[in-house]
Amino acid sequence: MTAGTAAEPHTIDTATGEEAPAEISSQRVYEIFSAIAKKYERFNAISSFGAYKGWLKGMIEAAPITEESSILDIAGGTGDVSFTIACSAHPAHIQITDLVPEMLEVAKTHYDEGSGCGVPIDFEVVDAQNIPYDDDSYDIVTMAYGIRNMPDRNRALSEIHRVLKPGGTLVCLEFSTPPNPVWRALYGFYLKHMIPFWGGLITGDKEGFVYLSKSIKAFPDQTTFAGMLEDAGFHDVAWRNFTGGIAAVHTAVK
Ligand SMILES: C[S@@+](CC[C@H](N)C(=O)[O-])C[C@H]1O[C@@H](n2cnc3c(N)ncnc32)[C@H](O)[C@@H]1O
Repeated sequence: MTAGTAAEPHTIDTATGEEAPAEISSQRVYEIFSAIAKKYERFNAISSFGAYKGWLKGMIEAAPITEESSILDIAGGTGDVSFTIACSAHPAHIQITDLVPEMLEVAKTHYDEGSGCGVPIDFEVVDAQNIPYDDDSYDIVTMAYGIRNMPDRNRALSEIHRVLKPGGTLVCLEFSTPPNPVWRALYGFYLKHMIPFWGGLITGDKEGFVYLSKSIKAFPDQTTFAGMLEDAGFHDVAWRNFTGGIAAVHTAVK
């Protein structure tokens, strides 16, 4: 649960939070998401305990999107965040990016079927820790359930800060830590014992759910993550908890 500083290169094993070579986590996340791409949406519903639609709605409410906004969706996966924004806020353009091509292929299929509601959307395979876009390019960066999977989180946050326009906003939805100890203990039990069992039974991919549980437990709490955003250069960092802190949306301004 210790945040590094933006200055020191610091890669971790995202399943434990312990210092480790980046390849361990990058390889694992690639294998998990390329294997589950086609059934990811079912996986998502289970992994967020069915609450993901409400959390997504809260995330989008926190984003100051206008019809002129140029949006970069980091770790966009199969496009849920982008398509929901497209259809509810009609921004000028959305760039959906993800590390795993198989996830973006599913997003492209949805787009071809009309999920973009007429908003121009482009797709590119991008590692968030090395973003191939110019400085000061985007009004809004969105990232849902992405940062937890990245071994060099400080670098990813610095890259996001770099490509945002001055005054632009990062809106980051992630699993988090319930502040109430009783709720935290109940949730911890559910996470450790129920999620791998039910998730494995329903999708046939127990390993993915074991990783999910561990990575959630190892992810920094709301305050620590806010500090990491500040270390990356953001100001006006704030967050809103969902479902008693099981998830939180952080907003941060460049
Ligand atoms: C749990 S999914 C979330 C997808 C989508 N944002 C959503 O809300 O449905 C996590 C995504 O993060 C992507 N990812 C993991 N590490 C990444 C990285 N370093 N750069 C970009 N994307 C990454 C994975 O490929 C996967 O699609």
